[in-house]
Amino acid sequence: MWTKERLQEIIATKMSDYTLVVVSNRQPYSHVLKSGKVICQRQPGGLVTALNPVLQATQGLWIGVGMSPYDQQVLDASGKVRVPPQGDNGYWLRRLFLSKEDMDGYYYGYSNEGLWPLAHIAYTRPNFIESDWQAYQKVNRMFADAILQEVGDRNAFVWVQDFHLTLVAKYLREANKPNIVTSLFWHIPWPNSEVFRICPQKNEILEGLLAYDMLGFHIRYHCDNFFASVNRELECRIDYERRSVSIQNHETLVRQFPISVDATYISQEVEQPETVERCNHLRDHFNIGDRKIILGIDRIDYTKGIPEKLKALNRFLEKHPEQKGQFSFLQLGQISRIHIPRYKQLNDEINALVEEINWKHSEGTWQPIILDRSYIDQADINALYRMSDVCVVSSLHDGMNLVAKEFVACRPDLNGVLLLSEFTGAARELTDAVVFNPYDTESFADALQMALTMPLEEQERRMRRMREIVFHNNIYRWAGKVLSQLLKFEFQEI
Ligand code: G6P
Repeated sequence: MWTKERLQEIIATKMSDYTLVVVSNRQPYSHVLKSGKVICQRQPGGLVTALNPVLQATQGLWIGVGMSPYDQQVLDASGKVRVPPQGDNGYWLRRLFLSKEDMDGYYYGYSNEGLWPLAHIAYTRPNFIESDWQAYQKVNRMFADAILQEVGDRNAFVWVQDFHLTLVAKYLREANKPNIVTSLFWHIPWPNSEVFRICPQKNEILEGLLAYDMLGFHIRYHCDNFFASVNRELECRIDYERRSVSIQNHETLVRQFPISVDATYISQEVEQPETVERCNHLRDHFNIGDRKIILGIDRIDYTKGIPEKLKALNRFLEKHPEQKGQFSFLQLGQISRIHIPRYKQLNDEINALVEEINWKHSEGTWQPIILDRSYIDQADINALYRMSDVCVVSSLHDGMNLVAKEFVACRPDLNGVLLLSEFTGAARELTDAVVFNPYDTESFADALQMALTMPLEEQERRMRRMREIVFHNNIYRWAGKVLSQLLKFEFQEI
């Protein structure tokens, strides 16, 4: 099995001449004020979940956008801070700061009102606005400048993350730096070419991506969609055998690397004796008593199918009134991108649904849904996974979804049922989950009943197989595969 130590060894032997630089919009840690003290908090989202252990293993540099004045306060003269603050697994985080106007155009606008809905096809219309595109280009250039400044003449492997930064490699290449190898990992789905073609900047985005030496997607289907878009929009040579695209004498490899989590570490963490205390505390905190728990943990986003989940719960209670009072449906979710009207609207919709369903089905002091949007640290999240009877991932479309994998990693007891949308990348690997269509309320409701009544032996059988997959395809194997492809050394299974 791939381990942190194995990855460290590969980096020491095969990459000793290279500096590893991870670049993303979302920074892994943020400094915030809590009870009068500045504290360091890990950030939400699959990207941070996956890459944080890789950076800890490799001791590289991470470049991301700082958000708060406290993020700025803690930096040294070169704009960097060491994270996480405790332990000897730290690495350097360099923060870039954007004006409100740039943030608006590049992040809220082009990235999240344009590319995000375009890629997810979740029936939210993408908006492409020229001034947002200008800001997007400007900020991508700022990232490229920061990379050039950090790397200098050293050999570097610059590993860029996600749809916010499609143009960075193009700007790096303009600086003519053969010492820099670049790769971009696309964490979200790549849409089919019919959908992608509506993007007014489609050629610029594709040409930007083809300036990278390698592109990574979670699954083969997204790679194939990418080839189809390139084929339709650009004059270039696609080599389907090598799985690469060549344009202007530059070849870009296109590969699938299903992302994952550090399952061994997570599993060991939840086996610590203090997890029991945490679980008891959380039961008290949410006033759950000894009822069963159905858990949902999502960033509040319209791609996650939260209203669909609530509607299915309503239908489930209509069909199975005998389940009233037997369980609590705990929906946690951190808010992000709240300045975008569609996200505000989603929040209102969720509030209204929770209110209505709780009113309709409540009995005495019992209400089916507990909704909590506050920040919960990873140890508590792991405890919640560990103590839940069912975990529901209802994404309408998701590149991978790491909540599903974290839940499996947190179940060394082999109990618990994973309900997993068929439209997640994870559903291709975790075929022992109860896989369902979140748009189909009736069968979603039936899947909830099946999960709550599943015999223990069947839970164990399914969980054992899912754990084998998540432990084998772990985050270090993912990183090892990416590095071996790019730096052209042989990848070995262990
Ligand atoms: C997804 C994206 C990430 C993003 C995360 C959180 O996982 O793939 O790139 O960082 O969502 O979204 P946010 O906009 O809050 O950073």
